[in-house]
Amino acid sequence: MFARRTVNLFQKRAFSASAINASKVSLALYDIRGGPGVAADLSHINTNSTVTGYNPDASGLRDCLEGSEIILIPAGVPRKPGMTRDDLFNTNASIVRDLAKAAAEAAPKAHVLVIANPVNSTVPIVAEVYKARNVYDPKRLFGVTTLDVVRASRFISQVQNTNPSGEAVPVVGGHSGVTIVPLLSQSNHSSIAGQARDALVNRIQFGGDEVVKAKDGAGSATLSMAMAGARFAESLLRAAQGEKGVIEPTFVDSPLYKDQGIDFFASRVELGPNGVEKINSVGEINEYEQGLLDACLTDLKKNIQKGVDFVKANP
Ligand code: NAD
Ligand code: LMR
Repeated sequence: MFARRTVNLFQKRAFSASAINASKVSLALYDIRGGPGVAADLSHINTNSTVTGYNPDASGLRDCLEGSEIILIPAGVPRKPGMTRDDLFNTNASIVRDLAKAAAEAAPKAHVLVIANPVNSTVPIVAEVYKARNVYDPKRLFGVTTLDVVRASRFISQVQNTNPSGEAVPVVGGHSGVTIVPLLSQSNHSSIAGQARDALVNRIQFGGDEVVKAKDGAGSATLSMAMAGARFAESLLRAAQGEKGVIEPTFVDSPLYKDQGIDFFASRVELGPNGVEKINSVGEINEYEQGLLDACLTDLKKNIQKGVDFVKANP
């Protein structure tokens, strides 16, 4: 049995439920307000775990982080209708940078899972902070893009009238708009074409907007994100316990497009005890998908550079 200490930096997410079931886990939560209340709420879930909440008092963040093996960062502001994820950069970049600084000092070997948007930029921000402190391990830093494949399997099942649990659509690239590249040719429905394909691809790329619009100013996806975050954290825990063949999509420091100056890319990644075990290429794609990928790479490069430049200018 592993005693894992999983840190969710702030939040009321219920992802702990399934992650905690995987093993004996301690969950530590930090928020600028309300951490202990969220912890008390989560602590009633009947799992073999301990849950502790921290406030930003003298050493709250450090106490929360110390001894952590997995750190999830969902902190920051969500979108309002009409905003892109990049519009969150000005607020969230410094939040993520400061949390990364604290994490790099208190638990430099922990796996860091970044949920806060814009993921395409916040993941490079964490990398730069860790590099500046000589504690960067590219195998331990992940942008959480799980929600994109969760949506993709749901949306394709609605079009095809199938059970979503039997659908798997690889989604590669990044986590915003056209950087989200669904590979329908590798799904169970490779023959989908024309307008139906275009509409489905568009829905997968802009699925987050549907929630933002429906919440009408009150935030973006939280419950489906909780499920997706739980899935990713649990996969990492299973891999840490020695399970082989655990594969999740995730935005990582990747060799796939480095020759084009793109240091981070989401693809299907095999997880292991040390984090990234194997990064799979995008595989065989058709001409249409190559077009999507080209558009993705153009945007992704700028998003990544923006994160890197931010830390250089604001260390
Ligand atoms: P929310 O407003 O419900 O929660 C954000 C929490 O962050 C709040 O509890 C707030 O107090 C806390 N916070 C703010 N600044 C902080 C700081 N400096 N330190 C610690 N805690 C701080 O927002 P949300 O809906 O949970 O979204 C959070 C982020 O996650 C947003 O950037 C959103 O875009 C992103 N998100 C990403 C995905 C994804 O798929 N990667 C999915 C959903 C949401
Ligand atoms: C999502 O995909 O739901 C999140 O990135 C939140 C958002 O702003 O859309």
